[in-house]
Amino acid sequence: MQILTLLRERFAVALAELIADPQLRASSLERIVPSREPQMADYQANIAMPLAKPLGKPPLEIAKEIVAKLQLDDICESVTVAGAGYINLRLSPAWMAAQLQSAASDERIGVGGTASPKIYVIDYSSPNVAKPMHVGHIRSTVIGDAIANVLRFLGHRVITDNHLGDWGTQFGMIIYGYKHFRDPAAYAQRPVAELSRLYRYVQSIIAYEDAVAAVPKLEAQIVQAAQRVDLARKKQEAAPEDKKASKELQAAKNGLRNSEDELASNQAKIAECKANPEFMADATQHAGINEAVLAETAALHRGDKENMKLWHEFVPHCLDEIHAVYQRLGIQFDHEYGESYYHDLLSAVVEELFAKSLAVQSNGAICVFLEGFDAPMIVRKQDGAYLYATTDIATALFREREFEPDACLYVVDHRQSEHFNKLFAVLKQIGLTHTEFKHVSFGTVLGTDGKPFKTRSGTTVGLEPLLDEAVERAWAVVCDPNRLQGAGIDMDDAEKRHVAETVGIGAIKYADLSHNRTSNYVFDMDKMVQLEGNTSAYIQYSYARTQSILRKAAVQGWTEDRWQSSSLQLREPIEIALGLQLMRFEEALEQSMQEYLPNVITEYLFETARMFSSFFDQCPVLKADSESVGLSRLQLTALVGRTLKTGLKLLGIGVVDRM
Ligand code: ARG
Repeated sequence: MQILTLLRERFAVALAELIADPQLRASSLERIVPSREPQMADYQANIAMPLAKPLGKPPLEIAKEIVAKLQLDDICESVTVAGAGYINLRLSPAWMAAQLQSAASDERIGVGGTASPKIYVIDYSSPNVAKPMHVGHIRSTVIGDAIANVLRFLGHRVITDNHLGDWGTQFGMIIYGYKHFRDPAAYAQRPVAELSRLYRYVQSIIAYEDAVAAVPKLEAQIVQAAQRVDLARKKQEAAPEDKKASKELQAAKNGLRNSEDELASNQAKIAECKANPEFMADATQHAGINEAVLAETAALHRGDKENMKLWHEFVPHCLDEIHAVYQRLGIQFDHEYGESYYHDLLSAVVEELFAKSLAVQSNGAICVFLEGFDAPMIVRKQDGAYLYATTDIATALFREREFEPDACLYVVDHRQSEHFNKLFAVLKQIGLTHTEFKHVSFGTVLGTDGKPFKTRSGTTVGLEPLLDEAVERAWAVVCDPNRLQGAGIDMDDAEKRHVAETVGIGAIKYADLSHNRTSNYVFDMDKMVQLEGNTSAYIQYSYARTQSILRKAAVQGWTEDRWQSSSLQLREPIEIALGLQLMRFEEALEQSMQEYLPNVITEYLFETARMFSSFFDQCPVLKADSESVGLSRLQLTALVGRTLKTGLKLLGIGVVDRM
C-alpha cells in the first residue's frame, strides 16, 4: 500500500488542468509528503508556493483552485488550505480501515511492490579469506543482506555476490609463514587457527621492519617540524595580535607533536619486539621478509606448482570457517566468485583497454588516466602484477555480461571510497554508462572507548566468540528466571536456547542496522541486548506480545477465523494513528531504499512497536466493551505482529512466539 503514490495520482489529475509544463507538474507532485505535524494533517502538499511565479497568481488562490479540482472524497476525511497556501490532508478512518482489512487478508500485508522492477547486483560481505574475519565484516554482511532482502521484497531482481578476497597478498603471507614457521600438529588439529596465527606472525615481522625503517624518516621529520615551530614562533612574537600567526604556530606545534608521538610509538613497538629473543631471531633470519612475501604472492599468481597446491589446500579450510559464520547469521549468497575467479581474465582486460587506448603506458606501468583525479588508476604494475582495481574492472565487465544489471551496489567500508570513485570513473570511461554504480559505504565500528573496536587481547575480534557472547548476554536478559516467572512463561532449556540465539544474533544485527550506515558506530554489547529502547529485543518482545494476546483471545473463544472474518474499525485516536503507521510500511521500505539506509526501517519498526504499546495501554482488546470492538482490535494486533515480523525478517532478524 503506497498512500503517497495514490495521492500523487489524484493530484496529477487535478494539476493536469492547471499546469501545462510536465516537468513543473512532476516537481510539484514531489512536494506531497507525509506531514511532520500529525496533529495538523496526515499528508501535506506544499505545492502552491513555487507555482506562484510560473502561474502568476497568489499561492492561496492556487491552493484553493487545486483543492476545488481534487477528487479525494473516498480517501480523505478533510482537505483544507492553511496558511499562505499549504494543502492539508486528513485520511478518512473508514477508508483506512478498509485498506487495512484488505492488507490483513493479503500474504504480503498489502505491500504491492515497485512499478518499475530493476536488476541489482549487490557485492557485500566480501572478506579477505585467510585473515581472521572481524567485527567490521559484520557491517557489510548485515547491511548488504538487509538491502538485498528489501529490494527483493519490493519486486526487484537481486543477484548477490560475495566477492571474496581469496587471491591477495595475504596468501603470500600465509604461504611464506607455512613454509617457514608452521606448527604441523597445530595445523593438523585446527588449520584455520594455525593459518591465522601464521598470518599474524608474518605480519608482525613486517610491522617490525616497517617500524625500524620509519625511525630515521620520523627523526628527519621532527627536525623539520621543530624548525617550522621556531619560524612560526618568531612570526607570532613579532605580531602577537595576529590571529593567523597564532593559528600557524599552533598548527606547527601540533605537527611536531604528531611526529614525536609517532616516533615514540614506533620505538615502543621496536622495544617490545627486542624484548622477545625468539621473535628477534626470526626477524633477523628473515630480514627483508616483505619482498619475500610479495615474491610468494607473485609466484602463486604465475601458477607456481607448490604455491598453487598450498592455495588449493588452504582455501577450503578458510571457506569452511567463513561459511560457519554465515550459517549462524542465516545468510546466503547467490554467488561467491571471489577474486581468484577473475585471475585468468585480467591480462585480456588490460590488453583490451590498451588496444582501445583507454589505458596507456606510463613509467612501465599501464594506467587509466581520469579527469578530476590527481593520480591515474594503475591496472598493471611495472613488474607485471595486477591489482585489486584490475580485478574490480574485470568483475564489473563480467557482471555486465552475465546479469545485465541496472545497478551495482558495493557495500564496503568508507575507507575504500577513493578506490570506488576511481573505479566508477574508469567504468564509465570504458563504456558502462547505462549501469548505476554505487558505493554503499559505512563507518567504522568503535568500542565504548571511542577507538576502533578491539578485544581485550588487543587484536581485532574474531566473529564466533563475539556471537557467542551476544547470545550469552541475551540469555541473561531474556531468560532470567525471575522475569520468566513474572511473565508466567515456563520454558525448557531448548526453548531458552532458541530464544537467546534469536535475540542475541538479532541484537548484533539490529544495533548495526539501526545506526545510519554512513557514521561510525559504537559497539556496546550491554546496550544492544536490552529489552527497552531501540533494540531488536524490544521489537521481538512486542511481536511476542501480539502473539500472546492472540493466544489468550483464542482461549476465550475469539479464534483466528472469528477475528479474521470480523470487520476492522478505527475509532480511538491511537487506533487511527496505529492504523496509519501500519499502512506506511511500504512507504518506509521504499524510502529506506532511496539511499540504501536500513535505519529507516528500524526506526519505522521501533515507532510501530511503541505505538502498539500505547494502543494496548489505551484500548482494551480482550476486555473491550463489545465483541465487535474486541475482534476488530485483535485484527489490528495481528497486523502489527505480521508487520513487525516481516520487517525484522527483511533485516535478517527472526522472532519467537513468546519471550
Ligand atoms: N575484500 C575487500 C576487503 O576486505 C572488500 C571487497 C569489496 N568488493 C569489491 N568488489 N571490491 O577490503
